[in-house]
Amino acid sequence: MPKELIRLSDCFMKFDDDVILDHINLYINDREFLTLLGPSGCGKTTTLRIIGGFQKPTSGDVFFDGVRINDVPPHKRKVNTVFQKYALFTHMNIFENVAFGLRVNKVPDPKDPKRMIKVPEAEIKQRVEEALALVNLAGYGRRSVNSLSGGQQQRVAIARAIVNRPQVLLLDEPLGALDLKLRKDMQIELKKIQQQVGITFIYVTHDQEEALTMSDTIVVMNEGSIQQIGTPQDIYNEPKNAFVADFIGESNIIDGVMLQDRVVGMYGKKFPCLDGGFAPNEPVDVVIRPEDIDIVPKEQGQLTGTVTEVTFKGMHYDIIVDFRGFKWLIQTTDFSPVGAEIGVKIDPDGFHIMKKSAYSGMFGDYSSYSSEYDELNEDRLEEDDGDEE
Ligand SMILES: Nc1ncnc2c1ncn2[C@@H]1O[C@H](COP(=O)(O)OP(=O)(O)OP(=O)(O)O)[C@@H](O)[C@H]1O
Ligand SMILES: [Mg+2]
Repeated sequence: MPKELIRLSDCFMKFDDDVILDHINLYINDREFLTLLGPSGCGKTTTLRIIGGFQKPTSGDVFFDGVRINDVPPHKRKVNTVFQKYALFTHMNIFENVAFGLRVNKVPDPKDPKRMIKVPEAEIKQRVEEALALVNLAGYGRRSVNSLSGGQQQRVAIARAIVNRPQVLLLDEPLGALDLKLRKDMQIELKKIQQQVGITFIYVTHDQEEALTMSDTIVVMNEGSIQQIGTPQDIYNEPKNAFVADFIGESNIIDGVMLQDRVVGMYGKKFPCLDGGFAPNEPVDVVIRPEDIDIVPKEQGQLTGTVTEVTFKGMHYDIIVDFRGFKWLIQTTDFSPVGAEIGVKIDPDGFHIMKKSAYSGMFGDYSSYSSEYDELNEDRLEEDDGDEE
């Protein structure tokens, strides 16, 4: 049975007149790898800072192991933080960087628990070596910080944070400064470290792939509100609304109507699906993932459309197809040229039916596909600039 460790109960946060967190309710289990995922400015860091004790919610409560900790200062919480800019001390070697947290802290004297003493040198040595081994840097203690790669430096930052044996590690975009390849390696590494240390990780990122790779649980946020909480599989396969469907992976999101249980209508046609429990003729958002669509000869298609764009992506083609003015993205290994009239087939389990929400109509049309890509690249460039400051 998983044991609940942290709970945010109705946490509300305002800066000036802006609502930053809108009544957040969330629990985090012991030893869980939980990720707060969402676009820039959605309130991820603020949520993390509330858990760490660096910020107090305007209203609402924070519990740790069943005890309300709103007024407990950060250094008295069993929580440690790793930031994106992890700022190792360049004048100290690796060992001293990791030992730092142990040297500045005093601990109760085992012989007289009322007296506070420094951590004994022998214990520091043992714990630093343990922490370095956990991040695969055994034997690196005497090296200088500058002799390490970006990924190794990040691992030192993690060793420094776990050497105090926190029950929870908070990580705010810790891989943001690394290049893509290193990031991917570190994602796998971080997950391993979390499992070995056996503590709770609360991780913040705006990168959906990173969240899907590492997390036990993902919390998708937008504009200060939680949109969905679930396993990576839940979030990807059963998005709760058009925002989640669009933010996690690629999605075609089409207006439809539930004709009856397991039959959805789109474009005036009927399609078998697996969903039910909607009102008769209830308008819905129909999510179809690009990889769940098969291209077939026109006569065999459930729908027919015209190819307007083709991009080779290595593993597959991204093909944009116009169905009466609404553009779909299809990912397929079969090539179709621009201008081709094609049919498509979708299996019943390829349809994901969602109730209408505030996000209906905002996503899912790939008319602006190429410009969307440009914007994404611009974001990335801006971020890179920021990191080099
Ligand atoms: N101290 C503050 N005073 C005023 N507004 C703030 C303060 N801290 C954060 N905000 C605002 O709160 C909102 C949420 O910020 P937060 O840093 O939590 O977002 P985030 O999800 O971590 O974003 P990013 O991915 O860019 O780091 C933003 O609009 C931000 O401008
Ligand atoms: Mg942030």
